[in-house]
Amino acid sequence: MTGYEMLSEQLRSLAEEEHGILPVLSNASALLYWNLEDLNWAGFYLMDKGSLLLGPFQGKVACIRIPLGKGVCGTAAKNDETLVVGNVHEFPGHIACDSVSNSEIVVPVHKDSCVIGVLDIDSPSIGRFTEKDRQGLEAFVQVLEQVTDFRDPSML
Ligand code: SME
Repeated sequence: MTGYEMLSEQLRSLAEEEHGILPVLSNASALLYWNLEDLNWAGFYLMDKGSLLLGPFQGKVACIRIPLGKGVCGTAAKNDETLVVGNVHEFPGHIACDSVSNSEIVVPVHKDSCVIGVLDIDSPSIGRFTEKDRQGLEAFVQVLEQVTDFRDPSML
């Protein structure tokens, strides 16, 4: 098993006990933050009233609300596509929550084929995220979509 496959399996078994948004997304962000190398932030933004609202995460305090189409997260959510940004300072409209961040990967999260949020991971190293990370994290998010009960996001 690759590192990402192991993380996905750990997420699946953690979610067997509770399927709620808060426990699953909180443990998912902790799993990623503490097992992947060279990160300074890992967590979620969730769709709320037409923009992205800060969800469970690990790392320093972060921007609370991100308009759809703004920054890396808002662009990934609006276009429903994974974005791998090697140098965030070259990304138009990048939102600098932490000046230490230099590269970033954002993977949309879906429910019934609609984007309901994003997984956002930041690194202090330029070019930290590769095609292997993209594939591993997209597979991780697919497991997350299967095991999380997103029925009641208003609990957030
Ligand atoms: N840099 C992100 C904002 C979120 S923080 O990195 C946690 C962006 O441009 O969307």
